[in-house]
Parts: sequence; C-alpha cells; structure tokens
Amino acid sequence: MQTIDRLGPLRIAVDTLRDSGTLALVPTMGALHEGHLTLVREAKRLADHVAVSIFVNPRQFGEGEDLDAYPRQLAKDSALLEKEGVALLWAPTPEAMYPNGYATNISVSGVSEGLCGGDRPGHFDGVATVVCKLFNQVRPDMAFFGEKDWQQLAVIRRMARDLDLVRPKADAIHGVPIVREADGLAMSSRNAYLSAEERAQAAALPRAMQASIAVMKQGGDPANVLAGLREALLDSGFSSVDYAELRDPVSLEPMTHVGARPARLLVAARIGPARLIDNMAV
Ligand code: PAJ
Repeated sequence: MQTIDRLGPLRIAVDTLRDSGTLALVPTMGALHEGHLTLVREAKRLADHVAVSIFVNPRQFGEGEDLDAYPRQLAKDSALLEKEGVALLWAPTPEAMYPNGYATNISVSGVSEGLCGGDRPGHFDGVATVVCKLFNQVRPDMAFFGEKDWQQLAVIRRMARDLDLVRPKADAIHGVPIVREADGLAMSSRNAYLSAEERAQAAALPRAMQASIAVMKQGGDPANVLAGLREALLDSGFSSVDYAELRDPVSLEPMTHVGARPARLLVAARIGPARLIDNMAV
C-alpha cells in the first residue's frame, strides 16, 4: 500500500492504478472501525483497486464541535488498510487540501436542509466541498459511503448528479448498509467518547427505533410514536434528542404516514459528550 500526502505524487499513483483496472474510493476521516472496513471490502469486491482517503475535514465541523477531540490514529488505520489489501492511502495535510486563499464552497440545497443540516449549519457544505475535491483528486470509477450517514449519502448523490460528475458517475456512488455492534448500536468513531455506562445506555437508541417502527407498522400515528420515541430516549439516559423524524428515503421530504410507500426513520440524540445518529427503513 502506498501512502501519499501531496497532490503531485497522488496524480501519478492514481494514473498508474487506473492503467491496470478500475479504481474505487472510500472517503473517511480515519479512526477506522468495522463499518469503514466493510465499505473497503465492498469496494474491493466491485473494483480492481481501492483507494481510501483519511482527512479530518475542518470545514464540516462547526464552532464548538469536536474537531480537536476527533480521534486521529494514522499508524493504526494504515495497518488495518494494509491488511485489507488497499492499494492507496490518500492522507492529505489540511494545507494540501485547503491552500492559502482557498475560497470555494459547494452547497447542495434541499436534501441538506433540516435533520443534521438544521442542527449543524454549514456541515453539509463542508462535506460536499471536500468530497467533490476528493473525487477530483482521485478521479475514481466508483465511490463507497455508509448508510449510517443517510442524509450525507443523499447530499453526495445529489451533488454528483447536479454537477455531472464523470468520475465517479452519479450512479457509481454506492451506499453500504449500517454495520452495528452486537447490541445494535451503529458503529461510529464517536462511540469512543462514551463512558462504559453511557455506552451501555446508548444501545437504547436502535432498540427504541425498532420498537417505534413496529408500532407505526401496526398503524400507530407517526407523530405520537415519534413523541414517545423522544421520551423513551430521554428516560434511557440521553440528554437531548436533536431530531426524530420520518422522511422520504430519497428526497428526504417529511412524511406523516407509513404504509403506502417506503419511509426512513432518522434520529440524532446526545448522550454524554457524543451526538449519535441512526436511521432505519420503515
Ligand atoms: P467518517 O465518519 O469517517 O465515515 C466514513 C464513511 O464510513 C462514511 O461513508 C460513513 O457513512 C461510513 N460509516 C461510518 N460508520 C459506519 C457504519 N457503522 N456502518 C456503515 N458505514 C459507516 O462520513 C465521513 O467520515 C465524512 O463526512 C466524509 C464523507 C469522509 C467527508 O469528510
């Protein structure tokens, strides 16, 4: 595996890889866990070569968010990726990504609004901007993202369509199902912020979501069920619930009924120092 942190050598490396097959990109912020590695394995299954990027992107962190605390462990991540047979690790410095005078922003309206976009102003501009840059830098044939960040995936797909991205083409952006811990909690680099007690309490999130979905499927009124879901989380040790909403899976438009067409339940809630997100099909 080649590890590269500057654009010049990156261009040469990706050109060489593409000469001998298809190239997949898996963008990450590092502190890799089984969720990330599942994306890598799916990428390996569908492409000849896999590139992984690790970049803790300052532009997607708001003021007072965890940019400084975000776990950084490049040596450990690098060993994990090597074992997975990754060809290229792209780990640019902040200066390589955003040189002095950097002034361009990509903003995707509609799908970026509400949910995490409402709670974290500017977050999805930061995500869209860095992912667009990563696509231009690596020019992969396909790219892999987790359904864990359902809204993020919708934003990136919208951007790829709107900007006529050629590499990867919009339909070559793959979503990979959420990888969960044994107790159902979605894997996340931010789970490391939790104390043992908070970590145990956090499993209430997927449990309460599943229970709510079961009630809605039996005809429970979504507005009442979602109010109950909020209460159940507060009773289980969560300090606040940023949102608990029923949305159209693709357009992310709010939905008030279930049954006629697919829906997605999306939740963000805070426990201890962590803000956890999860989503499930209804
Ligand atoms: P990060 O949080 O490191 O996640 C990298 C990728 O791994 C994302 O596509 C995310 O959805 C996926 N992922 C994380 N946990 C997962 C899980 N439990 N199951 C399945 N997939 C999971 O998301 C980002 O980084 C950044 O916003 C990024 C896209 C890299 C742009 O900076």
